[in-house]
Amino acid sequence: MDRPLRILMIASEAVPFAKTGGLADVAGTLPRVLRGRGHELLVVLPRYGWIDGARHGLRPFHAPMGVWMGGGVEEWCAVEAAELGGVTFALVRHDGHFDRPLLYHDAQFNDYQDNPRRFAFLTRAALQLCRDRGWAPDVVHVHDWQTALGPAYLKVWHWNDAALGGAASVLTIHNIAYQGRYPATHWPYIGLREDHFTPDDFEDHGATNFLKGGIRFADVVGTVSPTYARETLGPIGGHGVGPYLARRGADYVGILNGVDYAEWDPAVDRKIPARYDANDLTGKATCKRELQRRLGLEEADDVPLVGVVSRFVEQKGLDLLAPALGPIVRGMRVQFAILGSGDQQLERFFGTLPRWYPGRVGARIGYDDGLAHWIEAGADCFLMPSRYEPCGLNQIYSLRYGTLPIVRATGGLDDTVEQYDERTGDGTGFKFASATPGAVHDTVGWAVSTFYDRRAHFEAMRRRAMARDFSWDRSAAAYERLYRRALAVHRSL
Ligand code: ADP
Ligand code: GLC
Repeated sequence: MDRPLRILMIASEAVPFAKTGGLADVAGTLPRVLRGRGHELLVVLPRYGWIDGARHGLRPFHAPMGVWMGGGVEEWCAVEAAELGGVTFALVRHDGHFDRPLLYHDAQFNDYQDNPRRFAFLTRAALQLCRDRGWAPDVVHVHDWQTALGPAYLKVWHWNDAALGGAASVLTIHNIAYQGRYPATHWPYIGLREDHFTPDDFEDHGATNFLKGGIRFADVVGTVSPTYARETLGPIGGHGVGPYLARRGADYVGILNGVDYAEWDPAVDRKIPARYDANDLTGKATCKRELQRRLGLEEADDVPLVGVVSRFVEQKGLDLLAPALGPIVRGMRVQFAILGSGDQQLERFFGTLPRWYPGRVGARIGYDDGLAHWIEAGADCFLMPSRYEPCGLNQIYSLRYGTLPIVRATGGLDDTVEQYDERTGDGTGFKFASATPGAVHDTVGWAVSTFYDRRAHFEAMRRRAMARDFSWDRSAAAYERLYRRALAVHRSL
């Protein structure tokens, strides 16, 4: 048996402490699964001001801690920690950087101008914590642009450290569109050398690009589904950094995310009105009725109900749904339950729909975890018309809730949903290729007609979907292989 590994994860969000999207689900869950498989884990996050320390059992862990940034600037912070599932979650407290109402931007969705400093600091603080405590990781696993400086710090400054010299680095890309591209004026604070501000490393048309440098310096690079790994090598999917990924050859891999079935399984979900499983779906009918009641929809079990839970950003393709929605609701007997927030125009559009289509469309603007569970359980179908989707978690949750996904065949959506075959009844969902309102309209129509006209197929698909297994164990085993590969690469340098 391979020996257990010591793994440091650095992330800008992780459940249950802070979450804006799927990154938090992964960064909060994967460590606990790896712990369960015998590894030793330390997860370092920002201590955002609004995190309820008492609720999470945060206690003082390490203070004071001085962190050297570039230009001889030493910044001081304190570290608080909580143990969850045998994993130490260490939260770096620096109120100047992290005591703000939202994670990355203000209420108007303007990025905080000092984001590169905030997350460069977090990343260096995580490494400093290892040094201060003499905790020597085998692997440092960073996520997205926010912590993508980690591999470069290790290689440039810590290659000979007692604590960090042996650490291999792994970068996981959850979304290649966010690269952390900021003015070069931040470079001195970041604290890497001038000779790394080159087009091969961090420089990008005169700006600093965190993700690009991470791709260059990490021992191995991963993303969150095999199809997205392929898509990101191309000129469109790669958002400008595709060629740098291509250079990494076999050291760039896609590993599908797992999901946390302790949190997202209708057989055990305490957040939904009734529990159910594939053997007995009566609880699902209850969930549907309760959801209809809560959102002011007509309480009918013979009308298909389509759910949407999403960030309203270009990626998610809800602007493709917007023009299709009127024709769908006028032309078909179908209901919608929509939850999300983000783009103000889309918020206004979806927020006013219930007034236009009373009893047919229910919508809530905002972030509401409880309602997200209700929609997964109460809907018959779940719509994700994403332009691109690195992995996507909601469609995987939907499968387990017997709520058939209607998805654009891209990234992880394509890897996790099996296309319905009208002849045989096979499949677990409905997929379309083109990113157009027409395709959204027609594919919703296909699902709706299957609900009405091929009901036996629909019900068999539900049960098939519920039996699909995307638990973390399989993905965790793939991460173990990735870590060992990173160690081999690191040792060969
Ligand atoms: P992304 O990370 O790109 O937003 P994912 O599908 O990986 O997409 O993850 C989205 C996660 O965020 C899911 O757990 C989903 O339930 C949750 N989520 C997104 N928007 C909302 C919302 N408005 N209210 C509650 N949960 C939401
Ligand atoms: C990103 C992606 C999403 C993925 C999540 C977790 O937020 O947009 O598709 O599921 O990261 O990896």
